[in-house]
Amino acid sequence: MTPGVRPLIAGNWKMNGTLREAAALAEGVRAGLEGVRGADLLICPPFVHLHVAAASMGWKAVAIGGQDCAAEPNGAHTGDVSAAMLSDAGCAFVILGHSERRADRGETDVLVKAKAGAAIEAGLIPVVCVGETEAQRDSGEAEAVVAAQIAGSLPEGFTEAKGVVAYEPVWAIGTGRTPTEGDIVAMHARMRAELVARFPGQGGTTRLLYGGSVKPSNAASILALANVDGALVGGASLKAADFLAIAAAVPA
Ligand code: PGA
Repeated sequence: MTPGVRPLIAGNWKMNGTLREAAALAEGVRAGLEGVRGADLLICPPFVHLHVAAASMGWKAVAIGGQDCAAEPNGAHTGDVSAAMLSDAGCAFVILGHSERRADRGETDVLVKAKAGAAIEAGLIPVVCVGETEAQRDSGEAEAVVAAQIAGSLPEGFTEAKGVVAYEPVWAIGTGRTPTEGDIVAMHARMRAELVARFPGQGGTTRLLYGGSVKPSNAASILALANVDGALVGGASLKAADFLAIAAAVPA
């Protein structure tokens, strides 16, 4: 945790579920909110489920986010969704530069930075993901890789817009494996230092999330670490009870 920073527990639903299941999951999260006191909550459904999720939340109790947006504001970009469209559909946040998009869709730091700029322009809070591959960690490059992604992916105005950075080691996503607590603390300290150096005013209180196989059984210990200001949760966010248990594990 970072003193004075309210943690954020974000659920990344990825490409899962039907419209009916999305409505039920959102409703399940909303129904269990009394148990969550120490954190803000965010759910990020697929585009076509955003509206029903936002409606289930009464449009406010839990924030809604997209999983990507276009860098362009509008126009002839078949298949893309703009940041303003996300905002209009009830979103306050958007995940950008997830490793699945960097790997599967060839997204570069330059593109992620442009998308984050478009998100800020539309009044959305970008959640920019960074993280090393297993080979990069094994060769001792993890911190340098993440520092370069931070330098290349965050636009000007990122901290003023309350932008969030999520550290997600690629090898920990969906695998059940997590870095050691020492490795998480070291990486988050490095990320904090990079943010403070680039954004002296607000980099000290930018939320830094950890993501990668976060579940109810490991949430309390991860969320108590220095400079870990919440979690980005994939698989475990698809069960309302597990997502709520992770949020309830934020130290009071
Ligand atoms: P996971 O995914 O929790 O299933 O490991 C995290 C993510 O990709 O955001």
